Amino acid sequence: MIVLGIESSCDETGAALVREDGRVLSDVVASQVALHAPYGGVVPELASRAHLRAIMPVVEQALAVLPDGLARVDAIAVTEGPGLVGALLVGIQAAKAIAWSRGLPIVGVSHLDGHLLAPYLTRPAEGDGARPSTAGVPAMPYVALLASGGHTALYEVRSPLDIELLGQTRDDAAGEAYDKVAKLVGLGYPGGPIVDRLAQKGDPSAVALPRPMAGRGLELSFSGLKTAVAQHVAQHGAPADEQGLADLCASFQRVVVSVLVDKSLRACEARGIPRLVLTGGVAANRGLRAHAREACDRAGVELFVPPVASCTDNAAMIAYAGALRLLERGPRADEIVPYSRDPERRRGRM
Ligand code: KG4
Ligand code: ZN
Repeated sequence: MIVLGIESSCDETGAALVREDGRVLSDVVASQVALHAPYGGVVPELASRAHLRAIMPVVEQALAVLPDGLARVDAIAVTEGPGLVGALLVGIQAAKAIAWSRGLPIVGVSHLDGHLLAPYLTRPAEGDGARPSTAGVPAMPYVALLASGGHTALYEVRSPLDIELLGQTRDDAAGEAYDKVAKLVGLGYPGGPIVDRLAQKGDPSAVALPRPMAGRGLELSFSGLKTAVAQHVAQHGAPADEQGLADLCASFQRVVVSVLVDKSLRACEARGIPRLVLTGGVAANRGLRAHAREACDRAGVELFVPPVASCTDNAAMIAYAGALRLLERGPRADEIVPYSRDPERRRGRM
């Protein structure tokens, strides 16, 4: 089975072809980062319009790897939420129109399920259909930390259709905190990669910052930490030189990373599951990867971190999650019905 995945929940327009075994045949992402950078965050109306311009070229590019294009596709999977409503609608309407024209089934996929199942994607660069030997793939059940610009939460993944939320942020997502701290001290957008890079050169004990939700089960919070950075800047001024910036970034990053890793391991222990997956854009963070690796080794927990292209927003993860839903529940399950030519069919969910 080959599934065409479409993703447009935030600021990346994505289309991908994926087989039901996780093999990625194509994965195209049109990023809107440059469009939103002047505003320091995603502007929803601009995002919707940019998705409209990008969606068909991106889909066509994804299909171009198949000699027969759409004729070889068996189903369409599209992100149905969570996300920006106007942005989601562009992907959903495109998916419906393509499905209607070819009589293909469409399955609606949660963006979060896509992120959580991303470790099973295998990309061409990883060689000849084989699973990547260094990263491996986790057996189920596993604990997953999903940390991105919109979400930060811990899950137990028991099967593709049996996923339990264990704890989540009460306010800002971790990536959002990175982006806001970067904006506060005049770094660019998105802030995560810039703060990460600067943090490598800084002293993590230079600025004392609070550890949010230290004793509180699996709950997380990043808004107070961001405010603590804002207060530090208000009192001492924004760091004037590169070393001062690096010290502040390193101090902030140390707290974020240590809270994320501690809570993740706490979740593994609480559930008796010695397998941890890091996913979402923040899983690209070098500090998080390194600290998680050390802490997992110490705790006897196996760590799985998919390649960055699978962690950040992409349509391959949506296609794969959709393929699994179709296989487990059958073609009519969860189906979004395109504006139907058949008066007997129920109307679509969106
Ligand atoms: O998963 P993603 O591409 O999109 C969302 O679903 O949000 O994640 C984007 C987020 C942004 O907030 C970005 O600053 C953050 O992930 N991010 C990072 C790093 N790379 C991306 N945060 C920390 N360190 C990084 N290296
Ligand atoms: Zn995402």
